[in-house]
Amino acid sequence: MQFGGGSWQNKMECRSPRVSKGVTPIVDCQTFPDGRVSAPGFKMTKPKFVTDREQLEKLAPMLKAPIKRQVFVCTGKSCNAVGAQDVKAEFTRILEEKGLRQGKESKGRNPMGEVILTECSSIGFCSVGTAVMVYPDGTLYGQVMAEDVAEIVEEHLEKGKVVGRLALMELSEPAA
Ligand code: FES
Repeated sequence: MQFGGGSWQNKMECRSPRVSKGVTPIVDCQTFPDGRVSAPGFKMTKPKFVTDREQLEKLAPMLKAPIKRQVFVCTGKSCNAVGAQDVKAEFTRILEEKGLRQGKESKGRNPMGEVILTECSSIGFCSVGTAVMVYPDGTLYGQVMAEDVAEIVEEHLEKGKVVGRLALMELSEPAA
């Protein structure tokens, strides 16, 4: 049984966990070198901050890939109800067939692929799904069906042309 939620707190606020009859806390508050104290009963490991680029690239090989775009496919509840899994499967199939999807070779992907395919949850297009977002372009597509995917890949991801009939929003450039 664990106590506390693992949140950071000041030393002054560190209290013993509430102990029920016959239950012993796993750990007490832990003090880290920077003075912060973990919540009681929650064993935390401080993540190591890696600065060496070579080591970072070993840990995250995608850092070496010539990534141009990231495609998010929403598989939230409402999008799933209108075929999001088929949309995701079609992106997977086409991007992998074309060698565009970055990832491990052992998973049928290309370590030097230009596109990252990511599944995400709701972005607010729930009534007009399936939602697909393309970054860094900032294009938000709605009502995407599996049969639209080839066009998005060919026109947008390969030629850089937004598919106007499906694009519901273009995010504006953030202010400098
Ligand atoms: S569930 Fe996909 S946008 Fe909300």
